Amino acid sequence: MRKIIIDTDTATDDAIAIIMALKCRDLDVVAVTTVAGNVDINLASTNALYTCELCGYKVPVYKGASGPLKRKLETSKFFHGKDGLGDTGPYKPKGKIRKTNAVDKIISLLKEYPNELEIIAIGPLTNIAKVYKKDPEAFRLIKCLYVMGGIGEGKGNITEFAEFNFWVDPDAADIVLNSGIDIKVIAWDVTQIYGFLDKSNFIELQAINNKISNFAINIQRRGLEYYKIKYNEQKIDLADPLAVAVMIDETGTYFKNCEVKIILNGDKRGRDTYNFIDSGKVKLATKVSRENFLKILKSSLK
Ligand code: RIB
Ligand code: CA
Repeated sequence: MRKIIIDTDTATDDAIAIIMALKCRDLDVVAVTTVAGNVDINLASTNALYTCELCGYKVPVYKGASGPLKRKLETSKFFHGKDGLGDTGPYKPKGKIRKTNAVDKIISLLKEYPNELEIIAIGPLTNIAKVYKKDPEAFRLIKCLYVMGGIGEGKGNITEFAEFNFWVDPDAADIVLNSGIDIKVIAWDVTQIYGFLDKSNFIELQAINNKISNFAINIQRRGLEYYKIKYNEQKIDLADPLAVAVMIDETGTYFKNCEVKIILNGDKRGRDTYNFIDSGKVKLATKVSRENFLKILKSSLK
């Protein structure tokens, strides 16, 4: 089994991504680490712990950064709701968040499983950047880092220039994406093309009708309303679940080798720009199998 850490700012799409990873027989989720982003660090942590408990998994959850490296935290509660789960709660986990700080736990797990541990980062990259700054030796023991973030070759979702995770903490994104380890980036552009759910997808998911599938659907309601009002569309883009689907099975996913620059300030803050090269450590997903994504999503909710 592949040993992984999920680093998350647990809100509505993160929760589905966590369910997909936990339910995948090939993945051994050794820890969930939380970071402030969609919501504050305490909510991100209780949402993560609740989601793991709902799936019947006793996965340790460790609290990480309560804000970006240099900036003030700006959340996306306008989309995910005040509780981060579509304001469909309250969701009170039974267990407790572990005492060890997430950054220290990631470092110790990297030393315990050198060159074996994969990390999927589905929130701002603050924790990952802190691991690099605190212990660059340990950081280089990451087997592969999957990142949901950036606009790729498309447009932004929080501003026209930037995707939310990179916009919240552009300094962390810049450090991590230029750290020299193997990184696979699943950005907002491929999310919109391959990672959306429309009305027909929701009808299929509603038919599953169990506590996990109903939770996964219910927490999307507020986001669906947002899309209806803002775009007059009955759909929602699920960035984090698409990234986990790519991590689980890269069949049908194509990548381009690249070097990445992140704009740190100004109106283009958080923007990722790419220089495509023949071979390099950072790979940007340019095509993802929607069929694979839907197959993995559906089987994880059953
Ligand atoms: O831009 C999409 C990303 O921002 C996802 O990780 C979503 O959870 C939000 O954090
Ligand atoms: Ca997220």
